[in-house]
Amino acid sequence: MYRTPEEMSIVIKTPEEIEKMRVAGRLASEVLDYIEPHVRPGVSTAELDRLCHNYMVNVQGCIPAPLNYAPPGYRPYPKSICASVNRQVCHGVPGDKALKKGDIVNLDITVIKDGWHGDTSRMFIVGGEGSIQARRLCAVTYECLWIGIAQARPGAHLGDIGHAIQRHAESNGFSVVREFCGHGIGSKFHEEPQVLHYGRPGTGPELRPGMIFTIEPMINAGKAAISELPDGWTIVTKDRSLSAQWEHTVLVGETGPEVLTLSAGAPAKPKLQG
Ligand code: MF3
Ligand code: CO
Ligand code: CO
Repeated sequence: MYRTPEEMSIVIKTPEEIEKMRVAGRLASEVLDYIEPHVRPGVSTAELDRLCHNYMVNVQGCIPAPLNYAPPGYRPYPKSICASVNRQVCHGVPGDKALKKGDIVNLDITVIKDGWHGDTSRMFIVGGEGSIQARRLCAVTYECLWIGIAQARPGAHLGDIGHAIQRHAESNGFSVVREFCGHGIGSKFHEEPQVLHYGRPGTGPELRPGMIFTIEPMINAGKAAISELPDGWTIVTKDRSLSAQWEHTVLVGETGPEVLTLSAGAPAKPKLQG
C-alpha cells in the first residue's frame, strides 16, 4: 500500500517488541507510583531524582534513559528524571530547592528495560492543596492527554490527536506549547513521528496498528511562548504563568489505543462528556 515518506520512517513494532514495550511502560509508571508519597513540602527535586534513580537501577534493573542523554545540539542531561516545577514547562533539571505547599510539579520518567523504552509523566500538587487555577490547569491537561489518546486508532491521522488536544486546551482558556511534542518510541528514546499537540484533523501520517508513540501535552495557563534557562535544558513559560504536562506511551492497537504506561497507582482515566 502507498505510504508517504513521513509514514515510511515510522517503525511498526512486532508482537514480540510490543510485549517488551508493555513491560517497559509498566515499569516507568511504577516509578511514579513509588515516588508519589515522597513528593511533599520540604523535599528537593534532587532528592526525588536520587530516590527514583536508585529504584530504577537497584529495584527494577532498569536504565534511567535521561541520564547523559545528549540529542544533537544539547549537552548531556545530568540527571535521571525530569522535574518541572510551576512555570517550568518540561525538562526541568532536578536541584536542591525544596518544594513547598501548593507547588505543582511534573515528574517525567523514562526507563530502558531489555533495550526498550517506557516514557510517562504525571503532575503532583505538593501538599495536596494548590490554587484553584493550578488544580484546574492540571485537570484540564490530564483531560487533554486522554482526549488525544482516544484518537489513536487505526485509520485516524496524527493531526487528529493534536487537533483534539488543542481544542480542549484553548476552549478552557489555556494555550498549547508548540516547540516540544510527543514522539515515536521503542528501541530509541525519540523516534519518528513527531506528535504535535495542536493541528488540523485529517492531516499527517495515517495511524496503523503496531505504531507506538508518546502523547505529552504541555499546557500553559497564560501564553504559549517559552524560553530556555541557561542550564541548556529547563524550559519555562515566558510570561511566568503556570504550566502542566502529563504523558503516556500509547500503542495503536488493532481496534484502538492501548496505553502502555499504566500501573496500580496510575490515576484513572478522566470522565469526559461527549
Ligand atoms: N522524557 C522526556 C520526553 O518525554 C524527554 C526528556 S529528555 C531528557 O520526551 F534528557 F531531558 F531527559
Ligand atoms: Co516523551
Ligand atoms: Co517523558
